[in-house]
Amino acid sequence: MPPVSSRLPVFPWDRLEPYKATAAAHPDGLVDLSVGTPVDPVPPLIQRALAAATDRPGYPTVWGTPALRDAISGWCERRLGAREVGHANVLPVVGSKELVAWLPIQLGLGPGDRVAYPRLAYPTYEVGARLAGAEPVVYDSPTELDPTGLRLLWLNSPSNPTGRVLSADELRETVRWAREHGVLLASDECYLELGWEVEPVSVLRPDICDGDLSGLLAVHSLSKRSNLAGYRAAFVAGDAEIIGELLKVRKHGGMMTPAPVQEAVIAALGDDSHVAEQRERYAARRAALRAALDKRGFRVEHSEASLYLWATRDEPCWDTVAELAEHGVLVAPGDFYGPAGERFVRVAFTATDERVAAAVRRLS
Ligand SMILES: Cc1ncc(COP(=O)(O)O)c(C=O)c1O
Repeated sequence: MPPVSSRLPVFPWDRLEPYKATAAAHPDGLVDLSVGTPVDPVPPLIQRALAAATDRPGYPTVWGTPALRDAISGWCERRLGAREVGHANVLPVVGSKELVAWLPIQLGLGPGDRVAYPRLAYPTYEVGARLAGAEPVVYDSPTELDPTGLRLLWLNSPSNPTGRVLSADELRETVRWAREHGVLLASDECYLELGWEVEPVSVLRPDICDGDLSGLLAVHSLSKRSNLAGYRAAFVAGDAEIIGELLKVRKHGGMMTPAPVQEAVIAALGDDSHVAEQRERYAARRAALRAALDKRGFRVEHSEASLYLWATRDEPCWDTVAELAEHGVLVAPGDFYGPAGERFVRVAFTATDERVAAAVRRLS
């Protein structure tokens, strides 16, 4: 049997290692803006909730405690403006990457089925299609896809890597198209709380989905909004029939969020003030890096939301990576997200204030 891993793309981050070594040799140290991993503390109220739940000897459930389901459905209604999100419409997952990677398999997709995602995208959509043996398909405009054999359509707004946000009209049109063709629409909204120039909108909002969750899944993560990437905390909300099927499959697979993490998520979803505080930190870092990139002759495109600046100097991305590495600044080459990104770099603003200030000094 050929190894499953032979179906998957080469893990691209290895290619960045030589540039990381160059950047790390800078006398004032490495500024790593290549990955979107949170660096600020886990908000104390969340740490306390986790710590208070360490004595949990029994197995947690895949569906989570009723209190967790209440917290998720309450948040979807309060924050996303969704309506009638009951327990049957929600499911905790062990970080959203896990769901993105395994959703096609858990839906029973396989050879002959097609899974579509944006031309420039987070690589795990393709990984999920390939793990299932389904055909990965990229799109520029989802409603121009050939619907033949298309079973799963991914949206990602705000986008990683471009920071682009889909308008309410674009979302509405895509929901309509997906329903017309019987395609499941999965909307990865993990950066929804991080809009800078526009307010991102969920597919679950009644004016987008016509007050009907059928055929829709919205994927949310606490990694970015609450600095919880280390806890592996996320959830999916939407069509009760599909959520119910995923629950059955995932029960057999033992895909449980640890009990203390469930308590932490309840605390995190019940509080908006830590999200506002974290947003302020990111807004300041974003403004500083954006000004420095402007001065250095970069053009920043999209980037109206998310944790990234999508920047180009109209040169091959690896030239930009190499030049910035000489200044001790590591960024991600745009071609990690698809060949269409070959002249862009993705600059994350998930570094401490001190490291961002160092990058700004070096770039200015
Ligand atoms: C678009 C997108 N989806 C999903 C994820 C996965 O996030 P997590 O697994 O931490 O929830 C990421 C992480 O960077 C992402 O950029």
